[in-house]
Amino acid sequence: MRHFLTLKDFRKEEILEIINIAIDIKKDLRAGVYKKQLENQTLAMIFEKSSTRTRVSFETGMFQLGGHALFLSNRDIHLGRGEPISDTAKVISSMCDMVMIRTFEHSMIEEFAANSRVPVINGLTDSYHPVQLLADYLTMIEYGINEKAVVAYVGDGNNMTHSWMFLAAKMGFSLRIATPKGYEVDSAVLEEALEIAKLSGAKITVMNDPAEAIKDATIVTTDTWASMGQEDEKEKRIKAFKGYMIDNKKMNLATKNAKFLHCLPAYRGQEVSEEIMDTHSEIIFNEAENRLHAQKGLMVWLDKQRA
Ligand code: CP
Ligand code: NVA
Repeated sequence: MRHFLTLKDFRKEEILEIINIAIDIKKDLRAGVYKKQLENQTLAMIFEKSSTRTRVSFETGMFQLGGHALFLSNRDIHLGRGEPISDTAKVISSMCDMVMIRTFEHSMIEEFAANSRVPVINGLTDSYHPVQLLADYLTMIEYGINEKAVVAYVGDGNNMTHSWMFLAAKMGFSLRIATPKGYEVDSAVLEEALEIAKLSGAKITVMNDPAEAIKDATIVTTDTWASMGQEDEKEKRIKAFKGYMIDNKKMNLATKNAKFLHCLPAYRGQEVSEEIMDTHSEIIFNEAENRLHAQKGLMVWLDKQRA
């Protein structure tokens, strides 16, 4: 049995297996074919933070695969009132077939997984957002972008950035990260990613200058400057990130047909300009839709790994 907590724990071939299942599932859906690959199964979804895409895609995906999804907010279950994580994990995994968790500290999901009899999926922690990167990689493949990609990430060194680092390190593409001083990626995660990158040949570099990161990139991406849980820092961060907004001027430094990705939700006028969101809306909303297909692929793959 496998959990899906970070991309670090997955081999390149395994990531491609998941993506290939997702591609087939997307094709089937377009043709109106619904294969009940997870019939009678239940996915428990624990949300300790807000969500639009993650909740809708997992719940819809599970239904389309013939199963059922339970939405459990921490306001409703005893976890939010102090029931231990390990007890919660034992109980839920005795009744459900898979668990998806969106929470704050990554250690919470690790502790849950250690006590779970069923696969646990990370639906975002403060440190990582690996299901988003499955959808992003599916999108890259659909737009013909491969190992030769040069991805520029400009913005906060956060959960998205850490997951981009592991994706690049595993799949072997170049990633340039530009963050303001004081908002860099976690140095331990960077070290791990650089170690993995030695095997794939990925080139991962960090810097403070957005222009240096974007120059001749084939993909430009960013994320909110204030993640969930950092609402109090919003004003301070808007000041610190001045000059980091992706706008036409910055995008023009990239290659001519460069794509722009955003995991959403986007804050127009902060990390990205209105015009960039409008010009690249087709790929951005396809990327969002790909959450559904990628996660269905992931759930089917995880189900196959059970002993
Ligand atoms: N990108 C993403 O995970 O969106 P939600 O927060 O809406 O789930
Ligand atoms: N970094 C953002 C991602 C949202 C999908 C957050 O954690 O809020």
